[in-house]
Amino acid sequence: MLRKIGMLTSGGDSPGMNAAIRAITRTALANGIEVVGIRDGYKGLVEGWYVPFERSSVSETIASGGTILGSARLPEFKNEDVLMKGVNRLKEYGIDALVVIGGDGTYRGADALTKHGVNCIALPGTIDNDIEGTDYTIGFDTALNTVVECVDKLRDTSNSHHRCSVVEVMGNHCGDLAIYSGISCGAEILITPETGYDEEAVLEKLRYLENQGKKHAIVIVSEKVCDVKALADKVSVATGFAGRATILGHIQRGGSPSPSDRVLASRMGAKAVELLVAGVGGHCVAIRNNEIISMPIEECVSMPRSNRKAFYRLFDRLV
Ligand code: F6P
Repeated sequence: MLRKIGMLTSGGDSPGMNAAIRAITRTALANGIEVVGIRDGYKGLVEGWYVPFERSSVSETIASGGTILGSARLPEFKNEDVLMKGVNRLKEYGIDALVVIGGDGTYRGADALTKHGVNCIALPGTIDNDIEGTDYTIGFDTALNTVVECVDKLRDTSNSHHRCSVVEVMGNHCGDLAIYSGISCGAEILITPETGYDEEAVLEKLRYLENQGKKHAIVIVSEKVCDVKALADKVSVATGFAGRATILGHIQRGGSPSPSDRVLASRMGAKAVELLVAGVGGHCVAIRNNEIISMPIEECVSMPRSNRKAFYRLFDRLV
């Protein structure tokens, strides 16, 4: 019998986490289950930073970015002693089960807790869209909208000055923010973990575009693939464009969640509680073909990266 559940957000925050927290809270309360918000991810779980949640605790939160629970990264949670401290803390507070929202590190923590007797359900909360098995993660759509808004603005000024804007977007080894924004903004060149980086090929393509009469260009680069400042300088030296680098950075993580993210998070939050009520643990929630499903976390974290070739072919055809 499920009497009390906890919920936490962990890893990098993402817009829509609050909508998920709201859905978890209200679905659980409607099922007669008490809800406890755990502050600052697994750190708070271990330390006992627990706050009872009522319906009103999540009022006026659906439109706000970030996470009202706070978030943190705790790599030590994979150590058995830290994990056991967490398990005992949950028992001390009478928490029977947990919903966690975050990326793949968060998923592994939830799996470990489930194996130690605390049923956990994980929701994909990250702007990177780098969780396998789900078409979209909570926060990706909002971050994509932010990137597109910024790149559209850069295009205006880059066009006026015959410049090449080299724009770094987040993604943590996943090129989805780059490829989706590249297509959305009509970028000229993409550099992502999937494309790899060949500086000479990039410069050559820019010279080719220039010869074709292009007055400006946008290069979208996934973080951690190359140094955008160095590339922009090289562009100024080796092509007719003046290069300018822009690192969008953490602005991509903030802002009011898009309606798509609010709905996705609400559907996933409700599903998480339904799974716990049914006695399921060690699963993660996903959306596939607009259907909310769940699968074992173990299966999800060992899935190979899904193929994005069709997106890259489309991008190439549209330049
Ligand atoms: O996972 C989300 C993310 O924003 C990544 O895109 C990025 O690599 C990382 O987090 C940045 O982490 P931090 O906020 O700790 O600098």
